Amino acid sequence: MKRRPLIAGNWKMHKTIAETLAYIEAFKPLVAGVEDRDIMLAPPFTALDAAQRALEGSRISLGAQNCHWEEEGAFTGEISARMLADIGVTYVILGHSERRHIFGETDEMIRQKVAAVLRHELVPILCIGETLEEREAGKTFSVLERQLKEGLKGLSAGDLKDLVIAYEPVWAIGTGKTASPEQAEEAHAFCRRLLAEMFGADFAEKIRILYGGSVKPENIVGLMARPDIDGALVGGASLKPDVFARIVCFGRME
Ligand code: 13P
Repeated sequence: MKRRPLIAGNWKMHKTIAETLAYIEAFKPLVAGVEDRDIMLAPPFTALDAAQRALEGSRISLGAQNCHWEEEGAFTGEISARMLADIGVTYVILGHSERRHIFGETDEMIRQKVAAVLRHELVPILCIGETLEEREAGKTFSVLERQLKEGLKGLSAGDLKDLVIAYEPVWAIGTGKTASPEQAEEAHAFCRRLLAEMFGADFAEKIRILYGGSVKPENIVGLMARPDIDGALVGGASLKPDVFARIVCFGRME
């Protein structure tokens, strides 16, 4: 079965409202004719509302980069899934390695965030991936297994039917070192087999698994040619509208 590709841009801590609006104005016409794949932009929280208005009527979806698991309360500095739903967000990136490693997010916190996002009918993009040390110690698959099992514990196939997984090897993020298509495919196929064990083969066949880590216009075609790679989560190369449009349009403008 062919899954619909999703090309997602994670802007991380970049861009003001004015920069976001200028980007969207330049980006929209570049991807206007693209109908056979999904496109998502995840600006910082401060630009989400402006981005939502600017994207209205386009086929580009809005994503957030994180959220808190509670609905509301005394959690200074946090944003809930309920607030993101209120703005009109569709996707929420959860468990990004920068959240895990810089801000100390645990699998248990991420599991609660996935559940919160689902309560508001938003789509979680659950990020998983091993560090260089873990890869070199032969622990890649055990790390992926733990992150998937703990991050999805207690949830059913029905709850998770729109789930998106992003495999982002930490050693490939922002380093210019992309995983080879073979390395990425090996990890994606492993995750899909595990999802089949956890939730059944039909479920696993439908779930989109994105690759993230130094994706560029030059390497997207090779990655997307692999059977278990269903899209990309792009950091640095999503910050310029012309460069990200070339990634979104892979296979069309070559
Ligand atoms: P880069 O594309 O900058 O390596 O970042 C990947 C990433 O972390 C996307 O979430």
